[in-house]
Amino acid sequence: MKNRIRQLVKEKNAIILAHNYQPPEIQDVADLCGDSLELSIKASKTTADIIVFCGVHFMAETAYILSPEKTVLLPNPDAGCPMADMVDPESLKEKKQALGNIPVVTYVNSSAAVKAVSDICCTSANVIKVANSIDANEILMTPDKNLAQYAAANTDKKIHLWEGYCPFHNTLTPQDVNKAKKDHPGACFIAHPECPPEVLKLADSIQSTSGMIKFAGESDHDSFILGTETGLLYPISKAYPDKKFYPASEKMYCTDMKKITLDNIYNSLENLTGKIIVPENIRKDALSAVQKMVAL
Ligand code: 13P
Ligand code: SF4
Repeated sequence: MKNRIRQLVKEKNAIILAHNYQPPEIQDVADLCGDSLELSIKASKTTADIIVFCGVHFMAETAYILSPEKTVLLPNPDAGCPMADMVDPESLKEKKQALGNIPVVTYVNSSAAVKAVSDICCTSANVIKVANSIDANEILMTPDKNLAQYAAANTDKKIHLWEGYCPFHNTLTPQDVNKAKKDHPGACFIAHPECPPEVLKLADSIQSTSGMIKFAGESDHDSFILGTETGLLYPISKAYPDKKFYPASEKMYCTDMKKITLDNIYNSLENLTGKIIVPENIRKDALSAVQKMVAL
């Protein structure tokens, strides 16, 4: 199946992008793997006619927002993000107005319609840089309350929260982390900023998914506990086979990230199913928010 997919990719001038949480066989068939920021940038620069996005719906939408002339395919259209569904454009506009029209910074884990009513986007890799780039002292950040609190702790801005969260990162507790530390003495604990603040306090480093891979490579430590979705164990262990990686908790397993299979990549590419399209009026406004982020 892998060979058949690669043959189709060549024939159709396609590119397969995969998020770091995708299952191993999907990462292995992809042209490029990465975190949300890397994949957004790569999607905007590719010369392929077709982008096959192995991730969740908002990621494929972001690729389409940046490259509407390309065909963007999400091989399983059921792959969504529960956190992205925790905010909608109408409620966001109401809250922005109630706060006196302060700038809105929106995590890329959001729908195109929400991005379209936002001033700028951010990812877990650049949230502090984005917050500091805003020419105002107060910001509304949506949808992830944990990412917003992490940014607030690292800037002088007053950041208003939206009550959204990742159902998997948000379940990690200090007790889980302390147990993992006890089980793996001396291991360095790296956490994703979608984890709650009380977990981030225990972290030796706070990173996006690709940030974790880079950090592990540069660190003197030879063992790590990962406070993120367990899918990251595959690419990070592959990158550093001599180092040891342990999940902070096995419950951090995002079912949506595992919905794409080799069969549905093949079918989607062969029949051009799972096309992602964003209406042009929404796309243009969302593009402005995404482009401001990519330009930083
Ligand atoms: P990053 O890979 O950008 O850190 O994103 C994490 C995530 O939750 C994606 O859904
Ligand atoms: Fe959404 Fe969390 Fe899954 Fe990422 S890991 S796609 S934020 S639910």
